[in-house]
Amino acid sequence: MIQSFTKIEKVSGSLTLPGDKSIAHRALIFSALANGESEITNLPQNDDIKSTINCLRQLGIEINEDADRTKIYGKGFKGFTKPDKPLDAGNSGTTARLLSVILAAQDFDSVIEGDDSLSKRPMMRIIEPLSLMGARITGSEENTIPLKFYTTDYLNPITYELPIPSAQVKSAILLAGLHSDKITKVIESYQTRDHTERMLGLDVKKHQLKSVISVSKNNYPVPQKYFVPADISTSAFFILPVLILKNSKITIRNISLNPTRTPLLHLLKEMGAKITTAETGASSNEAYGDVTVFTSELNNIKISKEVIASIIDEIPALAIAGIFAEGDFEIRNAEELRVKESDRISALCYNLSLLGLNVEEFKDGFKVSGKVKIKKPIFKSFGDHRIAMAFGILSCLLDEGGKVDGFESVSVSNPGFIDQIKSITG
Ligand code: S3P
Repeated sequence: MIQSFTKIEKVSGSLTLPGDKSIAHRALIFSALANGESEITNLPQNDDIKSTINCLRQLGIEINEDADRTKIYGKGFKGFTKPDKPLDAGNSGTTARLLSVILAAQDFDSVIEGDDSLSKRPMMRIIEPLSLMGARITGSEENTIPLKFYTTDYLNPITYELPIPSAQVKSAILLAGLHSDKITKVIESYQTRDHTERMLGLDVKKHQLKSVISVSKNNYPVPQKYFVPADISTSAFFILPVLILKNSKITIRNISLNPTRTPLLHLLKEMGAKITTAETGASSNEAYGDVTVFTSELNNIKISKEVIASIIDEIPALAIAGIFAEGDFEIRNAEELRVKESDRISALCYNLSLLGLNVEEFKDGFKVSGKVKIKKPIFKSFGDHRIAMAFGILSCLLDEGGKVDGFESVSVSNPGFIDQIKSITG
């Protein structure tokens, strides 16, 4: 589907955006693991979350979705039942990688598969550590899905240093570590989102630049009530037009202010963005609050290697801010972008080139300079929700608007995107 956008002049008002996808997947999975009734409020309604819900249902977990409240009746690690067909993780890497831990230690064999995009994404990153813990998993020849899990009773503790910065891999090993009385340790050199640590109340020790996270059976999740704050990765797209358009100001309500998710806000502030935050509450050991954004003058700055892992999902939005900022926009050390829902380096470079900008592509990033020369571009989403949203917003900022081919992919994280834009443009 090709979606057209016309130029917007200014934005104002307030927005309540869908709940954070990372927290929502975890709240569902931890509730399914716990023994008894848990409740989640503000669970986002999107394709990725539906994938996790459907997979858990196929594993015998009862989930009742009711307006704003979802009830999950968990059965404990060994309470899952053999699914009668392969589990379908759809487009969702978090669903595939985190559910793999459940499937890796059952007294039944199972299979997890997904869509074309997920079928290209690397799975060795979880096959390797889970196999070291005793799981029996095979993937395709390229170590992608479908993944097959063979009956395994128990996973052994491990000490594992993450070879790549990945919250999904970190979380998979931590969940596997819930099996044993003995301690599993995960060592990470670059900070990635720490929702799993916070939600399970894990011990985290900092040793110079590294973090050592410990987990054991003592941290096994118990039934509880979760509130899912708004997703900062989705919010990033709505922050952009405020910064760039004249006389604009919006407040986005109840965004997760987890410090491992807010580096984007700090980076934008360093670029000159006027942004204020006001805490409104806390849930699962993390604060959330209202973020108010004002029209600003932006300057591109050097983006350090250390921050990349904690802004990884916001880089498409940041790149759009970068082309409106003074100076050249450059991002490096971001090769992980190549294995997201699309190869985001190549998708961003392709679309930015359509504007007549000078785009230099590197293995681990890209550089953009020059001025927009080409009018009314037709961007491609590459089937990737964040690429679709980034270029949907960019189209709203171009004098003669623009179009995004494959815009329907926004349903992966934010099916309400068009209505949300309308609500702040009055
Ligand atoms: C996620 C972690 C990130 C992120 C993804 C969600 C998570 O991936 O890109 O959208 O929920 O743990 P990594 O595992 O590469 O950090």
